[in-house]
Amino acid sequence: MASTIIPTIKFLSQPTSLAWVEQAIAHLDTILLDHSHCERKAAGAALNLMFRYPSSSHLVRQLTKIAQEELEHFEQVNQWLERREIPLAPLNAPPYGAKLKAQIRHNEPQRLLDSLLVCALIEARSHERLGLLAQYCPEPELGAFYRGLMASEARHYGIYWVLASRYCDRQEVEQRLEELANLESEILVTLHPEPRIHS
Ligand SMILES: [Fe+2]
Ligand SMILES: [Fe+2]
Repeated sequence: MASTIIPTIKFLSQPTSLAWVEQAIAHLDTILLDHSHCERKAAGAALNLMFRYPSSSHLVRQLTKIAQEELEHFEQVNQWLERREIPLAPLNAPPYGAKLKAQIRHNEPQRLLDSLLVCALIEARSHERLGLLAQYCPEPELGAFYRGLMASEARHYGIYWVLASRYCDRQEVEQRLEELANLESEILVTLHPEPRIHS
């Protein structure tokens, strides 16, 4: 794995390190438990935005679809936990989500733009990392499960980006995406001591 080069996917400023892949593959049960929490939080993020902008009908419709899919993923990951007899226990979160959310500006329309782009970046990173798990997972059935989820997460980051472009100025979207993408990669430079999807 040492000579492997991980490609940078669209939106992300830097690819995931091989150290993350090695840490994750060595702790698949913890990664599965963290993944369950991530899917629940992804559904919650879509619902929160829907509650904040209840009159934006196009946004509400798109977010409804995302929330439904994330809850389906949550259920699927929980089935894996059950199969492996891993209790659905609490797990401390890495600083990733909190540090990204701290970048969301408080006034509109910047608040909407930043919220959508932070969601887009989290989805893009999830897409990338589920793909790496699919590629390197030593258990073929679990690897196939991750491969199946990758496409949905890619679609989700596309939807968040299209929503940002629909409700905000396109040039501003691109400029802010670049700023937030650089920051997102910086947050991940130091590997979290414990294995997590977003460590
Ligand atoms: Fe998901
Ligand atoms: Fe997603």
